Amino acid sequence: MGKVVAIDGPSGAGKSTVAKALAQALGFDYLDTGALYRTAALALLKKGITPEAGDGKIKAALEGDGGVSIEFKKGRVFLDGADVSDEIRTKEAGHYSSVFSARKPVRDFLLPLQRKLGEEKNLVAEGRDMATVVFPRAWKKFYLDASLEERARRRYDQLTAAGRNISRKDAVEDVAVRDRRDSSRELAPLRRSPGALYLDTTGIPLEEVIRRLLESVKGTQ
Ligand code: DC
Repeated sequence: MGKVVAIDGPSGAGKSTVAKALAQALGFDYLDTGALYRTAALALLKKGITPEAGDGKIKAALEGDGGVSIEFKKGRVFLDGADVSDEIRTKEAGHYSSVFSARKPVRDFLLPLQRKLGEEKNLVAEGRDMATVVFPRAWKKFYLDASLEERARRRYDQLTAAGRNISRKDAVEDVAVRDRRDSSRELAPLRRSPGALYLDTTGIPLEEVIRRLLESVKGTQ
């Protein structure tokens, strides 16, 4: 079993930037589990599966004959061997990943994949259920939060920097709807793990957040 630093929190809390920097500083691999959910959603859409489909149909599409292969390597994600790292970053992929991630066959499909990576390598893994479900025995657990306004602003900056078209109003709406869905679903909802260090990053530059997390990790090495 490798050492796992688990980072959870709602969308736009700065998890990706912080997790990447932490992984680099520690010499650990970085795992973006949101990218896996986005890729699973993309795979289902490509197979013509809509959110109305039953669990059996979703399971068969992911795991049956000609099922899908998802890999995460060096910060890039591959669907059946093709690099889809950019394709999964659209607003639509974000929406469908949140919708499909509430479904049991999708979570069942991605769970062993994530755990296997944690067995093989030292990881900084970020998502919604890292500390609560996937790596309950993680070496270190963090929960990053920020106000809705700040998270929407970060989401807006991120998408516009990537050349995507989104209004500020849509960014707020998008983040609010996703939060609600990710926290209220039945399976592995976004929750603070009792053992996680909670950090509200509102108004704190991400460099400072990274510094604090590193300090916390190193203080107990
Ligand atoms: O972190 P992100 O925005 O790229 O994640 C996309 C969606 O995937 C998010 O809305 C909820 C889902 N997700 C999840 O259910 N569990 C995770 N560990 C990570 C993401």
